[in-house]
This record gives sequence, structure tokens and C-alpha cells, in this order.
Amino acid sequence: MNRSDAVRELVKAHFHLETDIDGLPLAVSPIGPDEIEAAIETLLSGWMTMGSRVAAFEEAWAEAVGTDHAVCVNSGSSALLVMLTALIETGVLERGQEMIVPAVGWSTSLFTVAQAGLHPVLVDVGAESLCLEGEWDRPVMAVHLLGCPSRATGPVVVEDACGAHGASLGNRRAGSIGAASAFSFFFSHHLSTIEGGMVNTNSEAVANAARSVRAHGWTRERSDRARINAANAEIDPRFLFVSAGYNLRPTEITGAMGVCQVPKLEAFVAKRRANHHQWCETISELNLPLRVFPELPGTEHAAFAFPMLLDADASVDRQALCAALEARGIATRPISGSNLARQPAFGRVPNARVEGNTPVADAVHTRGFFVGQSHAFDHTHLERLVDGLKASF
Ligand SMILES: Cc1ncc(COP(=O)(O)O)c(C=O)c1O
Repeated sequence: MNRSDAVRELVKAHFHLETDIDGLPLAVSPIGPDEIEAAIETLLSGWMTMGSRVAAFEEAWAEAVGTDHAVCVNSGSSALLVMLTALIETGVLERGQEMIVPAVGWSTSLFTVAQAGLHPVLVDVGAESLCLEGEWDRPVMAVHLLGCPSRATGPVVVEDACGAHGASLGNRRAGSIGAASAFSFFFSHHLSTIEGGMVNTNSEAVANAARSVRAHGWTRERSDRARINAANAEIDPRFLFVSAGYNLRPTEITGAMGVCQVPKLEAFVAKRRANHHQWCETISELNLPLRVFPELPGTEHAAFAFPMLLDADASVDRQALCAALEARGIATRPISGSNLARQPAFGRVPNARVEGNTPVADAVHTRGFFVGQSHAFDHTHLERLVDGLKASF
């Protein structure tokens, strides 16, 4: 038996598709035998640090999203930080500038704005989308929350598409709308490399800055490295630093798994989206004291998870409802960071403030929750959810 056959046999004998997250059946892993095999082959190849497999993943992901460039990093949060730092380094954004950030988002959708040197201004989200809406006079962080595309516009739009693989707005894919975007490939996402992230952009300058910021500030992966190296001929180009960077590189395993995942995007998202339609329709018809969030006109929802908002006068509160669902094996979570201004960490975010009232974010904070969604969910998952909801009121 050759090495490749031996690896395949090993994976076949030991692979389990149903995978829990935090001990709860929240989702089914998108990682299959192909990805495990590719990861093992990478380890056996001897080339484990960022190399040609990461480059191939970047190329495939740029094409899938519809941007000229993609720069791979080790998480979605890293992608946000690298994206914002690269946009400042290239003059698209300015340090000290205000950025409009939705009050409902992931923690690092907010924290990275301040970490990059911008001043976050939290504002309320739309009641139909739970995303930032409207036209703003300052740069915006458009968080496509749980797969729902944000329609916000401003002088500069940056996208947090970490949970919106394959979503679209009009004829543009989430992640190709703004000056740059960030994706996450964490375990529970549409596509996964266990941990991982990507910065997408059409700007070669931003992509080059991102390549330096991601890896120590050096020039190695930049397309303009020959010019920069020549202009600094007195410094060995292997250790020539042009950005005040970090080390947020992925490993080569990320690249190997990502290359296997990208071709699965369309089928995975189509199934999630069909589930989302069906779940919205079925649960609305139950006339329970809660609302669901159907896809908005002109958008394609990527259905990362299935959010619900209890009515203020519902006979049970969120804690009791979530406990009842969990008891039936249905995992629940709060809607991301809920109202981020009400998290203890908000006081530690430099230069952050809230602008205006936040009634929608406040409702989400006290009455919102989500259950998992997956390409591998079928009618049995919906039936289990429907039974659980009906029995809880
Ligand atoms: C909207 C959003 N932003 C950022 C992140 C952070 O991504 P990561 O966990 O890969 O750092 C997530 C993670 O789910 C997310 O949903």
C-alpha cells in the first residue's frame, strides 16, 4: 500500500461526521475525510508552515468571493485586525478617524476597530436584519450578522463577512462590496479550516500591506517586494521589515484544508439558505410569541445560524426557553455579543462611544437567541425545533 492509500484507509476507519462544538450538537462539521486526508498529507510532506497550499487557498477564495486578492490569516478576528491596519497603512482610513460599528456584532468586530487605532461609534441595528443599515457620513463596519448581508453604506465600507460565506447583496457577493473584507473559517462556519481567516480586497496595495501586517511586517509575500527590496539594498531582504506587523499567519494545514473546502461552498450555502426559508415559513405559521428573520429583498442570506427574538410580553423568558430547547438536545446561543455596549469589556475599548438610542440591540440583548443551522440539517432538525418551541410556551 502506498502512503496516500494508507492515509485514506486510516481516515476511513476513524472519521466521524457528527461533531459537537462545546459538547453540544450545534452544527455538523463541514470538515470531511478529504480535509483530514489533506491535513495528514501536509504534515507528512514536511512543509508545515505557510507555503504553496495557503497560496492556492488564497487564489481559490479570491475567485469564489469575486475579488482580485485574498490574504490568509489564522482567524477571522486576525483578518479584521489585519484588514483595518492595512487600510490605515495605505491611507484608505486614518488613525483616529471614527468608524460606525453596529451595536450587535461579534466582540472582535468592535475590538479590532480600536486595536487598529480607529474610534468606534456604536449605533443601533435594523429591526428586520439585525445588521447595520442606512447611509452614514463616516466609514462603516458592515457586519453581515449570522449570514444576513448588511446594506449599510458610507464613504468607506469595510465588511465583517466572517459568518457570511456565499451571501450576496444585489449581484455582489458579501466580501466583495467594500474596500476590504474579513472572513472566518472557524469550526462552526460554512467552510472551515478548524481555525482560519481571510482578508479579501480588489486593491493590490491593501493586499500587499495585509501580507506584511500578517507576518512580522516583512516583505516576503508582497507582489512589490523586488522594488522595496531594491530601495533598501543595505538590508538583507529576508529580514526586511516595512510594516509594524504581527505574526497572524496560518499554517500550511489551513491551506490544505481550505483548498478542499472551497469547491463545496455553493452546495453548502444553497442547502443552508433553503433550510432558512423553510424554517422561517414553518415557524412563522406556528403563531408563537417570537419573530424570525426572513431573507430581505435583493439579498441572499447565507444562514450561518437561525436567530429568533422573543416578544416582550411572551409567557416565558429567554433563559427558560433556551433551557427547554437545550433539554431536548437543541443547542442555543445568545445572538453574538448582543448589545456590545452592555458587555463589561466595552469600558476597556479605547475611544469607543455609543451614538443615539439602541432599542433593537437592547431587545436582542435580553430576548434574542439563535439555534444552529447547517448544510447537513434536514427536516428532522426542523421537526425537533418545532416540537421544542411548541412545548415551551
Ligand atoms: C461576525 C463575526 N466576526 C468575527 C468573528 C471572529 O472570527 P474568529 O472566531 O475566526 O476569530 C466571528 C466568529 O464567528 C463572527 O461571527
